[in-house]
Amino acid sequence: MTLLDGKLLSENIKSELSAEVDLIRARGGKIPHLAAVLVGESPASQVYVQSKIRSCEQVGFKSSLIQREADISEAELLEIVRGLNEDPDVDGFIVQLPLPKHIDEERITLAIDHRKDVDGFHPINFGRMAQGLPAFLPATPYGIMEMLRRYNIETAGKHCVVVGRSNIVGTPISILLSRKGYPGDCTVTLTHSRTRDLPAEVRRADIVVAAIGIPEFVKGDWIKEGAVVIDVGINRIADATKKTGTRLVGDVEFSTVAPHCSHITPVPGGVGLMTVAALMMNTLKACNRTIYP
Ligand code: GUN
Repeated sequence: MTLLDGKLLSENIKSELSAEVDLIRARGGKIPHLAAVLVGESPASQVYVQSKIRSCEQVGFKSSLIQREADISEAELLEIVRGLNEDPDVDGFIVQLPLPKHIDEERITLAIDHRKDVDGFHPINFGRMAQGLPAFLPATPYGIMEMLRRYNIETAGKHCVVVGRSNIVGTPISILLSRKGYPGDCTVTLTHSRTRDLPAEVRRADIVVAAIGIPEFVKGDWIKEGAVVIDVGINRIADATKKTGTRLVGDVEFSTVAPHCSHITPVPGGVGLMTVAALMMNTLKACNRTIYP
């Protein structure tokens, strides 16, 4: 069993990006600039946004953090989005989700200029991705694709079972893995809460992508011998043996699943770090106008 090391890969990607920034600086070009909008006090969102800002510093990107209280109005948030759309120094930006309930996430996502949508959440980017056109890919699916590529995992003709149909992970990764090329050319089954006999579906998988947001949901006896398991979950659960009283677990029960796998991502240290690395890659593409010349 091989651990798919998101820490190592994300450090490699960040070194490559840092070398790119050195080249840009040497020729007097524009330094990539990522802005992040964080609304409210959610501890998880704060951790994620901090890690994005810290990664910008590591690779030499410029970053801006715009923080607002949870009672900000939708109109005020839309005004911030419009300002970022129009700021020529900002190459790409993200609005961290989830947003407070009184704000319509769809309306905010639609307001983001798709040329600056480095999260790849805008329907223009989603539609272009689905058609195989150049697009900003959503960060987590992009990070997973990069992980498969860098570990040379065979995908052509493999049966991939995705657990979870969210707009930001399950649905886009199922599209990307079914697309022509590498990584891709998989036969994909997209499963969800209404799937009949989920364990039976997962047992047919050569590649499992678990993105359902339920701690340790996928069990060892669901896994075909030699399968590749990508665990997208980041769940904090109670653990009295830890000093903090909690620990992080994924959407797969690692102790029972890992013995059956050829490859598996750990949590933490797997997909989460690749998500941040993918966001950095998208920000460089935005700055270089790679997707939208
Ligand atoms: N919330 C959970 N994942 C993400 C992400 O990739 N981007 C943003 N903006 N919010 C998220």
